Amino acid sequence: MAKLWGGRFQKSAESWVDEFGASIGFDQQLVMEDIEGSIAHVTMLGAQGILPTEDVEKILSGLRELNTKAEAGELEFTVANEDIHLNLEKMLIDLIGPVGGKLHTGRSRNDQVATDMHLFLKKRVAEVIDLIENFQATILEKAEQNVETIAPGYTHLQRAQPISFAHHLMAYFWMLERDKQRFSESVKRIDILPLGAGAMAGTTFPIDRLKSAELLGFSQVYQNSMDAVSDRDFIVEFLSNSSLMMAHLSRFAEEIILWSTDEFKFIELDDAFSTGSSIMPQKKNPDMAELIRGKSGRVYGNLMGLLTVLKGTPLTYNKDMQEDKEGMFDTVQTVLGSLKIFEGMVRTMTINTARLEQAVQSDFSNATELADYLATKGMPFREAHEVTGKLVFTCIQKGIYLLDLPLEEMKKESELIEADIYDVLAPEAAVRRRNSLGGTGFEQVKIQLQTAKALLS
Ligand code: ARG
Repeated sequence: MAKLWGGRFQKSAESWVDEFGASIGFDQQLVMEDIEGSIAHVTMLGAQGILPTEDVEKILSGLRELNTKAEAGELEFTVANEDIHLNLEKMLIDLIGPVGGKLHTGRSRNDQVATDMHLFLKKRVAEVIDLIENFQATILEKAEQNVETIAPGYTHLQRAQPISFAHHLMAYFWMLERDKQRFSESVKRIDILPLGAGAMAGTTFPIDRLKSAELLGFSQVYQNSMDAVSDRDFIVEFLSNSSLMMAHLSRFAEEIILWSTDEFKFIELDDAFSTGSSIMPQKKNPDMAELIRGKSGRVYGNLMGLLTVLKGTPLTYNKDMQEDKEGMFDTVQTVLGSLKIFEGMVRTMTINTARLEQAVQSDFSNATELADYLATKGMPFREAHEVTGKLVFTCIQKGIYLLDLPLEEMKKESELIEADIYDVLAPEAAVRRRNSLGGTGFEQVKIQLQTAKALLS
C-alpha cells in the first residue's frame, strides 16, 4: 500500500519492518482525541483563510463521519498505515477524495500526537480525581461508623497503643487527599496545547494557535515549538503521581490482607470481592487486594520505563517517544480499575468490632498510660519508663496483663501509683485521653472527620 509519506522512497519496507514501527495496535485508543484535534485544526485553517471554506466544509463532514464510525467501533485500522494519525488521514482521503489531503496543512504528526496525548490525559486525570474522591467518601463513611471502635495501633507490626479504628482508616483518607492534590495540580501542565508547533520549528502558514487552543479548551499554548513537540514531562508526572498513589493503595491492600487472616480476623471481605481455591474448599482469598498490591509494580515500571526512554533523546521528536504510550494507557487502566475495586471492597467489608476491642484487652498497648501517669505525678519520664518496663516484665513472667496486676505489686515499683491507675489503664480511656491535635482521642477524631467532610463537599 502506498505510504502517505512515500514520495522520496524508491522501495517500500517489508511488512514485518512496518509492523515493528507501527503504533496503531495501541494508539488507536487516541482515535477520538485525534479526530477532535483535526476538527479544531481545520476549523482554524478555515477561519484564517488558509483553506477555502468549501474545502473546510468537506473535510469537517468527513471528520464527523469518521467520528460517528469511531463511536460505533466501525473503523478498521491497518498496520500498513502505521499509526492513528495516518490511518485516519488515509480514511479521510478515501472518504472525501484528495481534498482530504489538505487537512495536514501547517501541521505535523509531531505536534498532532502531542496534542492527542494532552487531550487524552486531561480527560483521564479528571476521571482519576473523581474516583479518588469517591473512595475517600467511602473511607469517611466507614470511619464515621467506627469512631468509638477501639483497635490496636501498631509500630513494627507490634502492638503499640490503642487507637480509634476510625483514626486508622482516616490515615488513608489523607494520603488520598494528597494524591488528589497532586493530580489536580498537574492539570495546569497538561492543559497546554502543542498544536501549531509543526514538526518542531513552527510553520510558514498564518495559523492562529490561540484559536486552536480555544476550540480545544486549552488555557495555554506552548511558548516554544521545540519544547512543544519534545515535552513528555506531563506524562512522567502522571506516572509519578500514579506510582505514589499505588504505593498508598498497596499499603492499604496489605493491611486489608493481614486483617482478613485468621490470625487477625479484624475484618471480613464481602464474598463479591473474594475468591476461592481450586483445591482447598475452605479458602476465601483476598485476591483483589493482592492484585492491587501487585499492580503497583507495573505502574512503577511504567514510570521507570518512560524516564529511561526520555533520558538522552536529543531535541526534538525522536521515534523513541512512541514508547510513551503503552505505559500511559496501562497506567490509566490500572489506576482507574484499582480505585474502583478498592472502593467497593472497603464499602462492603465487615469490621469485626468485637474482635478489635477484645484484641486490646490482651496486650501491653496501655503501658504508655502507666508511664504518662507517673510522669504526671512528677516522676521524670525516663524513670517512669523504667518503672513501667519492670512492671511489664513482672506481668510477662506471671502470664498476666497490667490491668490484672494487684496494686501492692505496682506499689513495689513506685509509691506514686494509686487505685485510680486501673481507670487510666483501660484501653478506652487510653484512646479518649489522647486529645492532642491530630491525635486519636474521640474528640480529635470527630474534628478530623468534620474537616475531611468539608473537603469533600
Ligand atoms: N506514532 C508516532 C508516535 O506515536 C507519531 C509521531 C510520528 N512522527 C514522526 N515524525 N515519525 O510518536
